[in-house]
Amino acid sequence: KIVILDFGSQYTQLIARKIRELGVYAEIIPFNKDFDKVDVKGIILSGSPSSIYENDAPLPKKEIFNLNLPILGICYGMQVVANRFGGVIAKAQKREYGLAKLKLLKENPLIDREIDNTIVWMSHGDRLESLPEGFEAVAKTDNSPFAAIQNLNKRIWAVQFHPEVYHSQKGKRLLSNFVFEICNAKANWNMGNFLTQQIEKIKQTVKDKRVIGAVSGGVDSSVVAVLMNKAIGDRFVGVFVNTGLLRKNEPEYVLNLFKKLNVNIRYEDASELFLERLKGIEDPEKKRKIIGHTFIDVFAKIAKEYNNAEFLAQGTLYPDIIESVSVKGPSATIKSHHNVGGLPKDLNFKLIEPLRELFKDEVRQLGRQLGIDEEFINRHPFPGPGLAIRIIGKITKERLKILREADAILIEEIKKANIYNDIWQAFAVLLPVSSVGVMGDKRTYENVLAIRAVDSVDGMTANFSKIDYELLGKISSRIINEVEGINRVVYDISSKPPATIEWE
Ligand code: XMP
Repeated sequence: KIVILDFGSQYTQLIARKIRELGVYAEIIPFNKDFDKVDVKGIILSGSPSSIYENDAPLPKKEIFNLNLPILGICYGMQVVANRFGGVIAKAQKREYGLAKLKLLKENPLIDREIDNTIVWMSHGDRLESLPEGFEAVAKTDNSPFAAIQNLNKRIWAVQFHPEVYHSQKGKRLLSNFVFEICNAKANWNMGNFLTQQIEKIKQTVKDKRVIGAVSGGVDSSVVAVLMNKAIGDRFVGVFVNTGLLRKNEPEYVLNLFKKLNVNIRYEDASELFLERLKGIEDPEKKRKIIGHTFIDVFAKIAKEYNNAEFLAQGTLYPDIIESVSVKGPSATIKSHHNVGGLPKDLNFKLIEPLRELFKDEVRQLGRQLGIDEEFINRHPFPGPGLAIRIIGKITKERLKILREADAILIEEIKKANIYNDIWQAFAVLLPVSSVGVMGDKRTYENVLAIRAVDSVDGMTANFSKIDYELLGKISSRIINEVEGINRVVYDISSKPPATIEWE
């Protein structure tokens, strides 16, 4: 495996994902933490928002330079290398940010002729002004005479630019050179191997005991359920709670999926309880808290029926467990998230988290290996609190019905237009606003519905999707004609930030 020491760059996870795409397992470790050296083939030092000049600049333990492992420093990682070996770093007057053309100065194992004269992405403040001892420059750009440096003897390389980002044309080749040519790693990380190993591991952990887990209909919890089923059959039971806040036909769709895959599911319709507790509630945070607590109550009650279950399976992913190197301090709570992965520890189960090493795209690949339909795997994300946070204001059965019908038409049209998979998320939001309209000769006074569709790679930032006007028009007229209670449709054209994807 390759170890990536994280100095807090926003791109650290991207380095790991790129290396895994090459078929090599990569793990992210906080810059100052010890790590298991077994099987480590090389070390990458990530970027950072910090400057090496700051008093508390993050620095790795000195020993990492004595492990006799190849090292690649990226951006701030280059400063770390320079700092260790006595290079001079100049405090930048201004940041260099954007594209630059890389020019090869000397053939080397990291940057070959194919990478010469290609575009790389620069994003840095301070930069190297003179070479550290024992190093030579192997590539430059117009603004950086030392865009890439090496110490062949010590097997240390460092680059000023970011090979892991998409804008660096041959960045992946550079990482591939590092991983295979320099570190001699083997490409044995794939979801087929992972599946075999994981099934064995689950069997060994669980032995003859039983496992319970919550399934939501989302990709992560579904992959966990199918995986558990492959490993231990009916000794896994997936609890599927109908919160009454699900989309049209969702319970049937999910139950059907698991039936096809032979997964043992315990279905609980708790819609009345959820709606009762949400009655009259308008505040988004209150809604979220009530739904989270109610879900735990319902799950805990069902779990008692299975008091011979010793383990709780959860769809925790790798990004959830990476210890974040937070240079900027903890961020403020924007929304209190609820999802089925968030069950409290005091339920007295031992946890099984078979996806805790995986990124989202790897979970999807694993799902394919497990025979889950492509259509299901490519579903848009759906929030744990469900339609409750898409009905602005009070939630009633009538309003749920209106929203379900409108949402179903929207998704149907988006799929028909063949753009569903290009969009990160599309959904309808029912507003607490009535507007005047005219139907036939009659005045109407009915609900306004907002359509939201966004493009995003991770849900952290998003742009509104530039959906064709014709299609928007079609969706609007179908919804107004077919859904009783709506006489106006608007399109949400805000991006995140400053808006969020969901309205509540
Ligand atoms: P926001 O609205 O924060 O949403 O821009 C970002 C992404 O997260 C989803 N989301 C949730 N997912 N439980 C979830 O499992 C939640 O409570 C929750 N709230 C928002 C949202 O749909 C989007 O994909």
